[in-house]
Amino acid sequence: MLRKKLAVLFAAAMVAATVAGCGGGDAQTAAPAADTAPAADTAAPAADTAAPAETAPAADAAPAADTAADTTADGGVISVGYAQVGHESDWRTANTQNYQNTFTAENGYELQLVDCDNDNAAQLEAVRNFIGQELDYIVIAPIETAGWDTVLQEAQDAGIPVIIADREIDADASMYDAWVGTNTKNEGITAGNWLAEYLGGKEANILVIEGTVGASATLGRAEGFNEVAASHSEWKILDSQSGDFTQAGGQEVMESFIKSYEGQFNVVVCHNDNEAYGAMDAMDAAGITYGVDGDVILISFDATHDGLQYTLDGKINCNVECNPIQADVVASVIQAMHSGSAYEATTLVNDEAFVAPGITSQYATTMTDEVLAGRAY
Ligand code: AHR
Repeated sequence: MLRKKLAVLFAAAMVAATVAGCGGGDAQTAAPAADTAPAADTAAPAADTAAPAETAPAADAAPAADTAADTTADGGVISVGYAQVGHESDWRTANTQNYQNTFTAENGYELQLVDCDNDNAAQLEAVRNFIGQELDYIVIAPIETAGWDTVLQEAQDAGIPVIIADREIDADASMYDAWVGTNTKNEGITAGNWLAEYLGGKEANILVIEGTVGASATLGRAEGFNEVAASHSEWKILDSQSGDFTQAGGQEVMESFIKSYEGQFNVVVCHNDNEAYGAMDAMDAAGITYGVDGDVILISFDATHDGLQYTLDGKINCNVECNPIQADVVASVIQAMHSGSAYEATTLVNDEAFVAPGITSQYATTMTDEVLAGRAY
């Protein structure tokens, strides 16, 4: 199918694909816990896979054949729209830079990356704009799991292949062409298993700062952690509130937790590093100590560079990785689709977990300067 590009460019939130920055880093080895756990309920694509790239080729190769014709018509340039969640976290910044460094003009792409600022309506509008422009491929990092059927049907009707990346959606897998991301339920299970190992049967009074409400990363981490917590009668989850994956959100929720639960908690679980930074600020201000030498055990997710620095410093006890370097996998899928070859319908990017010096764990790697030096994002 020959697609004519509309002359009107989607200008408002378009980000040029030229920013240098984030270094690479490959998918990493799974922690032991990852082997034992199924994915989150919402994780339709990830649920059945246990390792990266161990996936069946997609059944429907028709879109790839269609778009191969476009390559000739457009002089070999592949247009890709990426409806990005926003810029809420360091993880997100690394993920954006990874796409901008991968989908470059030099590599034969024209990337339209839209920062949707964590706004569902803006994200749907971005996807509809991509469809209206008849881009060759659409990549979506869905803010929430729900609400995707109609726009995915529109993309299908327009014959544009869709790749869901990073997070998951609750639409049927037949509504999109491929999925690339991490198993966030396993991340939650790893955090829980590590805590159980660390506490060795001691009581835990736990406060949770969740991510964005309705996001699969939030649902998966909560489900995985809660599953482990349910098997520990000596643990109590005192409260669980959303910090929206932001530092400001983490600080605000922690300040409110301190007002309600001061002196009653000994574990804080933050669904990402930025929330952990906010929680640390709030605990510092209240004179509450945390980390390996403190009164409160602090668990975080993402394992970005700064998060791992705090882990190396002993301020975060355990940091479970969520790998943001996914664009190379998405590009491989697109290249296969474009050449009409078989491609991976589901690719799981594996995660690792890290613990502060002085802690040894079967579930995590003990932080060192060398590990930190290898972490570019
Ligand atoms: O979907 C991945 C999550 O989104 C990361 O944990 C978080 O930092 C980001 O905002």
